[in-house]
Amino acid sequence: MYNVILGLKFISLFHTLFGKGEINIKSIEKKGLLAVKIAQMYAVRSDLLSIEKCRQLQKLYENSSPIPWEEVKMVLEESAPKAFWDEVTNIDETPIAAASLGQVHRAKHIDGKDIVIKIIKPEASKDFERDLSAVRVLARIALTLYPKLKRLADPMGTIKTIARLTRTELDLRNEQKGSEILSQVKEAEPDLEHLQNLHFPHFYTHLTSERVLVSEFLPYKSVSKGLQDGSFTYAQLLNLFRTQGYFLFEQGKFHGDLHPGNIFFEGEKLWFIDNANIEVTDAHFAKGLLDFLESLGKEKFHRAAKIMEILSISAPKNYKKYYQDFQDLYAGFDSKKSSLTNQMIATVKLCVRAGLVFPEGAFPIVKSLMYLDGIALKCAPQADLLKDVLKYKEDLA
Ligand SMILES: Nc1ncnc2c1ncn2[C@@H]1O[C@H](COP(=O)(O)OP(=O)(O)O)[C@@H](O)[C@H]1O
Ligand SMILES: [Mg+2]
Repeated sequence: MYNVILGLKFISLFHTLFGKGEINIKSIEKKGLLAVKIAQMYAVRSDLLSIEKCRQLQKLYENSSPIPWEEVKMVLEESAPKAFWDEVTNIDETPIAAASLGQVHRAKHIDGKDIVIKIIKPEASKDFERDLSAVRVLARIALTLYPKLKRLADPMGTIKTIARLTRTELDLRNEQKGSEILSQVKEAEPDLEHLQNLHFPHFYTHLTSERVLVSEFLPYKSVSKGLQDGSFTYAQLLNLFRTQGYFLFEQGKFHGDLHPGNIFFEGEKLWFIDNANIEVTDAHFAKGLLDFLESLGKEKFHRAAKIMEILSISAPKNYKKYYQDFQDLYAGFDSKKSSLTNQMIATVKLCVRAGLVFPEGAFPIVKSLMYLDGIALKCAPQADLLKDVLKYKEDLA
């Protein structure tokens, strides 16, 4: 019976996502962590949902309602290591940020340094796993009733990905691990000067546990703030693109959730935070995607189509039609007027319709490019992003 009620909650979620009605952010948040994660996942799928729905869903990346201080205290008492109580003072009871799975409070280390404490909400993990079983059952039923769903929205694949990413985030120690992975990439490239402008917060490992993370307070502005007050410039975006581009295309190993709230900046310096999810993509695929973008930038559309065909796991159903559709699509594009995101969405749609299938790692790269493009659109809507970033190709081996 209980499972039926849980199931209903998610049927209503999918109805909101795929139905005709409006998106109600608060009601999605009320459905819990898994529901929010599912909705966030579809927020970048403008190949499946309308652009307007995606725009509304993207609000789920921003703040959610905080939990009361009593509950935060409970988590700290249950989970913080002993040294925490000896070294952490002046915890601010009002959080600086709250998200679906945790929240962040300012405090002071006894050595005088400003720090932040991030906690995982009580029951977050248990509720998530419980909801996950209910959703799996639902997805299985849905797939039996509508086998076509697999090709269109791949619910099982989506659930699997969400489970992997969220379980990683639910153990805060993974944030330090992720920062270390990215940091090592940077250390290995001392000749790439711009990469040396990238930094990560310092972590207090001995004060940290699965559900409590203590790190240095960064007194900088986030890119999302910088976009709101107009202080994040297009030059800084290009610098950010160059940095993330190196991880995406050269390493095929990158911050999997680099939205503007997870980046701090000052001058040429950048800080990546919230580094739990490091995505790894086949390096061959990553380089191929870069060649694809280069072909688009140089308006070599036949070559662009050819690269997508090579990157696909399966062949197009009809070669001639595929190449023709590709030509037609891009004949109608003006690279100055049409954003990179719109081009990518239209291309993905065309390829999928033609019967091409891309490997699992493809989507995180596309999502990352959409974030960067979204930032570019906000700080320089007139810019020709693709042309401007292709000159950084020389950074890559
Ligand atoms: N080290 C830090 N210094 C200053 N502010 C921070 C720091 N870490 C997090 N924050 C603030 O808290 C917000 C949420 O932190 P984040 O690590 O991104 O957690 P979430 O998983 O909730 O997105 C950030 O956008 C930022 O405003
Ligand atoms: Mg974040």
